[in-house]
Amino acid sequence: MSPLHVTRTLPEDATGAALRADVRHGLTVTPKTLPPKWFYDALGSELFERITDLPEYYPTRAEREILVARSGEIAAASRARTLVELGSGSSEKTRYLIDALTSLEAYVPVDVSESALTQAGQALIAERPGLDVHALIADFTAPLELPRTPGPRLVAFLGGTIGNLLPAERAKFLALVRSMLAPGDGLLLGTDLVKDERVLVRAYDDAAGVTAAFNKNVLAVVNRELGADFEPEAFDHVAVWDREQEWIEMRLRSRTAQTVKVPALDLAVDFAAGEEMRTEVSAKFRRDGIAAELAATGLELTHWWTDAEDRFALSLSVVR
Ligand code: AVJ
Repeated sequence: MSPLHVTRTLPEDATGAALRADVRHGLTVTPKTLPPKWFYDALGSELFERITDLPEYYPTRAEREILVARSGEIAAASRARTLVELGSGSSEKTRYLIDALTSLEAYVPVDVSESALTQAGQALIAERPGLDVHALIADFTAPLELPRTPGPRLVAFLGGTIGNLLPAERAKFLALVRSMLAPGDGLLLGTDLVKDERVLVRAYDDAAGVTAAFNKNVLAVVNRELGADFEPEAFDHVAVWDREQEWIEMRLRSRTAQTVKVPALDLAVDFAAGEEMRTEVSAKFRRDGIAAELAATGLELTHWWTDAEDRFALSLSVVR
């Protein structure tokens, strides 16, 4: 059985430094904002797993439906010998793809969570002895050096997480992905699609309040990591559809006028009653729009698969 290779490209304190910079910036600009990547501590990751089981939150089930139905076609179209997965997490849905990729020699999961990477990596090695698993502990929004494994290479970015990037960040990210690819390589991208506003808002404001707890958990993260004194109950969860930008925005609305202290940053931050702080953008896509964004970075969309209800899409694009 081949061993699990683990490479860390993230300095041990990169996370702390990035959190401090993001919080300092986000709490001193107008309107206030916190980036969604800080949702995912242990509790936040657990809350996200619970979200994926909610009746209102369809993207995970829709994407799994596509992978179950289409992994054979995806494998035939890509003929990948190396699969690179960005933001792999538990690699749970990716297993359908890995099982279908019969010529696969190497799997390169990339994630900031070392525990998720090693757990998923060990399980996979046990099932596919001979598969080279090179786990990379890295932030995939920064340039990344991939191990020298055989091509063709397929880079997968699933879950609709690309929707968390703002348009300029998205262009930068796609250019970065393009730089990892050689002629004949491909990108498999999961994108949630524009649909009825009520369906979208419900998916981000569920009846059981799990998404509200997930949203407010970012305040607990800032409290724990930076010694802040946010009172999560002093904020309301808000989810709105922006029809111009075609994205869902999650916000936290201050119930009262209050001041929050962030000792690690030597900062005191005033919130007005009713003031809203943006915590996440989750963009929704249309085929033409994403095809144009891919084309602008030198990728040609060749395949488009959706679930039976056209809620979510997986696209395959290749280097032109
Ligand atoms: C993990 C980024 C795909 O945007 O739908 C779920 C995160 N936020 N509910 C999404 C999320 C609120 C999710 N992604």
